[in-house]
Amino acid sequence: MEKLRVGVLASGRGSNLQAILDRSIAGEIDVEVAIVLSDVEDAPALSLAKTAGVPAIHVPPGRFRTKLEPEIEKQYIDILLAHGVEVVALAGFMRVLHDDFLNAFPGKVVNIHPSLLPAFPGLNVQKKAIDHGVKWSGATVHFVNAGVDSGPIILQAAVPVLDDDTPDILAARILVEEHRIYAQALQLMAEGRINLDGRRVRVGPAPAEGELR
Ligand code: GAR
Repeated sequence: MEKLRVGVLASGRGSNLQAILDRSIAGEIDVEVAIVLSDVEDAPALSLAKTAGVPAIHVPPGRFRTKLEPEIEKQYIDILLAHGVEVVALAGFMRVLHDDFLNAFPGKVVNIHPSLLPAFPGLNVQKKAIDHGVKWSGATVHFVNAGVDSGPIILQAAVPVLDDDTPDILAARILVEEHRIYAQALQLMAEGRINLDGRRVRVGPAPAEGELR
């Protein structure tokens, strides 16, 4: 099968990126990470990409704290397109993307989030889950839309929240599931099996030979 060309945007540690790279390099998923972009100059994600032989570029975000400057967002789009990217995977990318970006990759921008959305969007969500007293939390892979962590849900995995959990302990338990379902979701996209029906994502059979994925 032709490999799905994925561009990864990451701001930090890069463990989700590494999980995708590992499975891709091992041939477990039909995904090629074509380029990694980061708004943070010393993001470990950039070095992880370089170590794996993947082009990795720091593109400074400009003067805003929670988004990219429009001109800079355009640069992100241009670089991703120049690398033949079909799907953009946000992996700990801590900035909101605008319509121009989403329209450049319609239905092809996905994100991983460490809660069972729609519960606990935003930041510090493991602490919010513990403070709220939920008994289960987890990970969500979803399409990105104009809202914050509000797009259609592709896959979720649940983990228990235990009495003695701290945010870090819960985060580590969730992260294992993040790594698993992000790769799984990208594989389903590579197989052309993800169909959007309103807000509902249905996993269908692989399209016949010659059909578009
Ligand atoms: C992950 O837990 C990811 O779900 C979260 O940031 C972490 C990045 O870790 N993303 C968000 O909270 C986005 N709303 P990583 O850099 O090791 O993949």
